[in-house]
Amino acid sequence: MLNRPATRPARPHFSSGPCAKPPGWSPDKLDTRVLGRSHRSGLGKERLQTCIDLMRETLWVPESHRIAIVPGSDTGAFELAMWTMLGARPVTCLAWESFGAGWVTDAVKQLKLDPTVLRADYGALPDLSQVDWTADVLFTWNGTTSGVRVPDGDWIADNREGLSLADATSAVFAYPMPWPKLDVTTFSFQKVLGGEGGHGVLILGPRAVARLESFTPDRPLPKLFRLTKDGKLNEGIFKGETINTPSMLVIEDAIFALEWAKSLGGLPKTTMRTRENAAALDEIVEARGWLSYLAGDITTRSHTSVCLKVEGADADFIKRFTRLLEAEGVAFDIAAHRDAPPGLRIWCGATVDTANIEALGPWLDWAWEQCR
Ligand SMILES: Cc1ncc(COP(=O)(O)O)c(C=O)c1O
Repeated sequence: MLNRPATRPARPHFSSGPCAKPPGWSPDKLDTRVLGRSHRSGLGKERLQTCIDLMRETLWVPESHRIAIVPGSDTGAFELAMWTMLGARPVTCLAWESFGAGWVTDAVKQLKLDPTVLRADYGALPDLSQVDWTADVLFTWNGTTSGVRVPDGDWIADNREGLSLADATSAVFAYPMPWPKLDVTTFSFQKVLGGEGGHGVLILGPRAVARLESFTPDRPLPKLFRLTKDGKLNEGIFKGETINTPSMLVIEDAIFALEWAKSLGGLPKTTMRTRENAAALDEIVEARGWLSYLAGDITTRSHTSVCLKVEGADADFIKRFTRLLEAEGVAFDIAAHRDAPPGLRIWCGATVDTANIEALGPWLDWAWEQCR
């Protein structure tokens, strides 16, 4: 029998959302001056604007694109875009895992649209060359539950007539985003920044703004989704004048993470840390015959939510395996998503330290032997 490995990951946080806090994070490091004050006070607006400015700087978002903080995490941001913009022209949805499939459900059952749906099984990607860009196209940049991502933005037509709507919640800060190709981009702080849930980020390019100002959907819109006033974009929302009251604690927590990302050197460094983590995990996978990737194609394999198959494992095995590692304080939340095939999912985003991934390898062997 294998002994327990000598080294434990210093931070056993490998969840794919909410993800590990940035290294060095602690609650007493948050700036709390604004707590207990109005979010519409001078200070409140300044802190919301600081958060927006830091996102623009660290993600290299051009001035052509507007950034808003909205309610409801990534789901809120993406549904806000769907509800306000879809219906003007045909819609295509790409779905290759649970979240993309969720947007199909929204489009069909709630919005009563009749989208073209391009699907692929867990581990694969639909044929992106089949996408007709006369339609509005919805996709997840990184499918968090299957560990499959789009390779880049080259497949998004420059001369598209429709809008590109990217749910990029497990992608931003991990891959460079081709902003001119993205009309709508959404994410939430809880993923690659290691922030909290509750608020989403909505990034709109000029074509999305033109859609909002030229198209009034034939459906009721809750106040939470209203981005226009008298047919014009409500610019205040993109300057920190949020639609309703935000959690300033979530914002301060996000500012901490963004300042951490900035201190590293921003996007080049957060993408590099992510790649290094995925490479460290790759060494572990390649050295073990009983571990393999759910995503077959290396060019579209996620660097963030890495999904692994475990030889012969069913859901019960994965439960025992992951509970054992959790009880040892070695790895939290590494079971595959409930909608995905049984397996492991190990987050490799920038807030994880490579040494912690490296320390995980021997523990996976130990748990494998215990559970077999
Ligand atoms: C691709 C994708 N879309 C949407 C969501 C939902 O995000 P939230 O819970 O922040 O709304 C997730 C969460 O894991 C996700 O991975």
